Amino acid sequence: MRWIKVKDYEELSEKAAEILMKQLESKPDSVIGLATGGTPIGMYRQLVSRFKREEISFARVTAFNLDEYIGLGKEQPESFYSYMEHHFFGHVDIPVASRHIPDGMAENLEGACEAYESSIEASGGIDLQVVGIGQNGHIGFNEPGTSFQSRTHVTELSASTRRANAKYFDVKEMPEQAITMGLQTIMKARSIVLLAYGHEKRDALAQLRTGKITGSFPASCLHEHPNVTVLYGEESEGEG
Ligand code: PGA
Repeated sequence: MRWIKVKDYEELSEKAAEILMKQLESKPDSVIGLATGGTPIGMYRQLVSRFKREEISFARVTAFNLDEYIGLGKEQPESFYSYMEHHFFGHVDIPVASRHIPDGMAENLEGACEAYESSIEASGGIDLQVVGIGQNGHIGFNEPGTSFQSRTHVTELSASTRRANAKYFDVKEMPEQAITMGLQTIMKARSIVLLAYGHEKRDALAQLRTGKITGSFPASCLHEHPNVTVLYGEESEGEG
């Protein structure tokens, strides 16, 4: 696990965008795993502006998002579908057919999970997966206690996750479940970059640094992966 400390959020976003750009330079038809949440917004902003300056094309990229809330339609602003349109997909040239986000409105959720897993496999597998980390150590929505062997599945959101994400919702509308890639799905990616920024991630990062592998801290599975980069930093003055 390679740890890279950044001085501020701008640097985190630039470095994350550079890792993605390097991946696409070496393999323009890369399969990229993408994350949502507050942390990667700056990375998407960087990628969009590089695309607008014609420094990069995503035309041959295939993208798979980590997760989606169950019960939120595409049109709902809190869905990760809307997030991706707003922050990234709506501004770049990834073909619509090559953008994948789990379907939180599927009638057959189990079938949707299986199909998601199969389409990742059919694409040749994920070359580079971007993940964030929850205060409870989740990656994707793999909450503490999730099996390291898990594939894409339906999960109950933990109280900690619901608290952290409540800022995006009316209390009554905060979903209780999500579809998420599993820990095994994430671990099959050829390389992984974990983004963590801000003081509320300090404890989770300290736990990750211990190197102890335990199911009660899902991100610890990453210690068993040969190619993980952790980009991290804390707020500098005036931020956050
Ligand atoms: P955040 O979410 O980027 O909004 O902090 C990360 C996560 O919970 O995985």
